[in-house]
Amino acid sequence: GKSGYDHYMLKEIYEQPQAIRQSTRGRILELDGSVTLPDLPESIVEETDRVQFVACGSSYYATQYGAALLRERGIPTQTFVASDYDVERIPLESGTLVVGVTQSGETADTLGALRDANRAGATTLAVTNVVASSAARECDATVYIRAGPEISVAATKSFASQQATVAILASVLDGRRPNPFLGGLRDLPSDIQRVLDTSNAREIAAEIVDADAYFFIGRGYQWPVALEGALKMKEITYAHAEGFPAGELKHGPLALVTERTPVVALVTGSNEVVEKTVGNVREVESRGAPVVVVTDSPEDVAHLADFVLEVPETNPALVPVVTNVQLQLLAYWTAYELDRPIDKPRNLAKSVTVE
Ligand code: F6R
Repeated sequence: GKSGYDHYMLKEIYEQPQAIRQSTRGRILELDGSVTLPDLPESIVEETDRVQFVACGSSYYATQYGAALLRERGIPTQTFVASDYDVERIPLESGTLVVGVTQSGETADTLGALRDANRAGATTLAVTNVVASSAARECDATVYIRAGPEISVAATKSFASQQATVAILASVLDGRRPNPFLGGLRDLPSDIQRVLDTSNAREIAAEIVDADAYFFIGRGYQWPVALEGALKMKEITYAHAEGFPAGELKHGPLALVTERTPVVALVTGSNEVVEKTVGNVREVESRGAPVVVVTDSPEDVAHLADFVLEVPETNPALVPVVTNVQLQLLAYWTAYELDRPIDKPRNLAKSVTVE
């Protein structure tokens, strides 16, 4: 059941600390200072020189986040929307690990891409939530994200668990010790809990519910989170929402910005990244757009924003897991204001088994 929540989506948002605890269980070796994936054969780790991710929807955004982490660790990584993966045109170099990220393990597009990769001779890895799903059965190896069952059509805790799992995968393929993600991964459940306990997303949603469109902007690790925030908003509110890399606004989308288009800006990261994004926030503010800033340094950016969604400070590479929770809550409470059928949006299915 929904355990007292109005919707499965909210229940699953609140289950995220526990989901992350499960995702990381047995995979963080505190004493050793390392991160491990016992289910990933050592031979695969050794043979992997580069990675191609294939996925759809929210899972695709999780791979974009994962790819940023892998590239930062010196592992050449590409991401593909599974329905557009074409082994003929994107040749597989030896040492390529093809990683399919799929909550259900049954998404036809993702299974198709993994089968193509397999036929072309690549080693394949499934990163999935569902035990013994098609993806798990067909790939050379499987790493479970262990989010627990997800009922709501809109992905929430599975996305967080995918983010944590690809961060662990990046660490394992990198092999560095002490692992720089260790502390951040360990703190994720309590960081997320703090957001759940203190978020003012409900009040902000009530203020921005009447809008022509919503824009989400972020840089670097936060770009995929901006895309995910927009996808969640459009899925459950039916409002138009789009995510952009913050720097792209001025190359076109800025033409759409008015007093009726709230802009949600993810402002975290190094000073340099924050400064640039703050510049982008000024551009939309001067067009009269309501600005919602999601940040770990409210003292520096609050003056720019109409509304602030605060997150605890953590490892800059892992803070996107936490900021995303604020975007989930913002989408949820906006849809709630609009009285939408949140758990079952029109035209959508939980598992898309046709290509
Ligand atoms: C968004 C959503 C979809 C799925 C996509 C892939 O909230 O749920 O975009 O992420 O259909 O599904 P899986 O991960 O099962 O392959």
